[in-house]
Amino acid sequence: MSLKLKSGFTFDYDNLYGEGKVTEDDLKFYEKDLKKAHEAMKVMRETGFIRAHLSKDGEPEKVLFSQLPYVEEGHLNSPSSLKHLQELTDHVKDNVDVVVSMGIGGSYLGNKVLFDVHCGSFWNELSKEERNGFPQVYFSGNNIDPRSTGDLIHHLENESKILQYHEKRNLKVLLLVISKSGGTLDTMSNFMVVYDALQKFPGIDVEVVAVTDPNTENPTLLKKLAIEKGWPQYAVPDGVGGRFTIFCEVGLTLAACIGFDIQSFLDGAKDMDKACQNDDIWQNPAMLNAFLKFAASEKHGRDIEVMMPYGDYLKSVSEWYIQLLAESLGKQFNKEGKEVCYGRTPLVAVGTTDMHSQTQQHQEGKLNKVVQFVKIDKWANDLTIPNVFPEAKKLADISGVTMSQALEVARQSNADALASNKRYNACFTLPELTPYHLGELLYMLAMSVAYEGELADVDAFNQPGVESYKRIMGPKLAALKAKNNK
Ligand code: PA5
Repeated sequence: MSLKLKSGFTFDYDNLYGEGKVTEDDLKFYEKDLKKAHEAMKVMRETGFIRAHLSKDGEPEKVLFSQLPYVEEGHLNSPSSLKHLQELTDHVKDNVDVVVSMGIGGSYLGNKVLFDVHCGSFWNELSKEERNGFPQVYFSGNNIDPRSTGDLIHHLENESKILQYHEKRNLKVLLLVISKSGGTLDTMSNFMVVYDALQKFPGIDVEVVAVTDPNTENPTLLKKLAIEKGWPQYAVPDGVGGRFTIFCEVGLTLAACIGFDIQSFLDGAKDMDKACQNDDIWQNPAMLNAFLKFAASEKHGRDIEVMMPYGDYLKSVSEWYIQLLAESLGKQFNKEGKEVCYGRTPLVAVGTTDMHSQTQQHQEGKLNKVVQFVKIDKWANDLTIPNVFPEAKKLADISGVTMSQALEVARQSNADALASNKRYNACFTLPELTPYHLGELLYMLAMSVAYEGELADVDAFNQPGVESYKRIMGPKLAALKAKNNK
């Protein structure tokens, strides 16, 4: 059983729905709730209103991620905002040597997806011509790790020495500082350390682009700095929570720095949004996915979701999804204020790698998981396994097939084995790993958690839980600073 869109995007749920799995009775049980959730999505699209959603400051706040795929004047993504992004492309291409994308959580995870899918592992080792004039890219601010930050500084200093030697010019480094609140400890501590070190280094020219809340009435610290120093600015708009920002200027500024096709990416998201407007659950990927996962959890105890794409460069998709699921749905209270402690636990896995580590648990451990595969149908570059050692029968046996065929055989075998032992699993298939299909997949997952929030009656758009540690950490940091200053 599968849902296939015109684009070729497919959701195969054979091993998740039917006898011994999520059933027709479950669907009947949730029929009214699904209708309500679908209505709520319509209202959200039209007005940005989500019942009971409040901002961090307890104020009513719009939810606008579903507007992002529609590039229109007056929208968050508009022809003029895309033009502004094109200016960034024009500036970095053939001019900037290195971009350091600095951010954490929603200001990092989507950017890493775009980088991995578009650039792969060896981008920074390619020549500038092979990168089509685009800069090298590094990430920072995603931790407060003195070793990795020190290593980055050291590496850039070395690069600048090599450049001085060969080309007698300075290394041009652009720090893309991304923080909606503009003051996040992890991002800003790294920014200050890296900015200070690179500025002091004679062979490096540093420039900064700030991506932050555009609000001018109560500007963020980063915005104030950007105004003062004249740094170019891009926006993390109101109404777009961190985990949805891959479709706004957080993700799109990085996209602009690597030559990623922004329009196709948004087109994929837009076509998926249209598919998700279908009233028929069997034709609506987000509604169907949300129902199956919600019912698997609530009715069958399968409340862990293992996101397991097949392919190295998709691991960051899994990591992006972890934040989306965890922050959106892990909630102590429902919309009426009743304690529910809802939330399915997400896990990162990658095929085939984790078949050699986690699969034992998936296959025989507690019956509490859904394994969600992601598969690429047609790989842009494929390799055939050659028969180089014909005398070694076992190796000769695996030759003559392409690596992508072997990858899919492994995935299919894993799915079959899991299904044969009452283990729920499902698969999203992308016809190819293009910006368009990536846009479809990520948008569908975002819309799916919005549906599931309604089904579980929790606010999928806040994250009050992350404030608790921040309240403890603030005074601790202040005390530390006072002690260091003595
Ligand atoms: O989803 C979220 O809101 C968080 O993960 C934030 O993106 C993260 O904490 C970074 O916040 P900021 O962009 O304000 O620096």
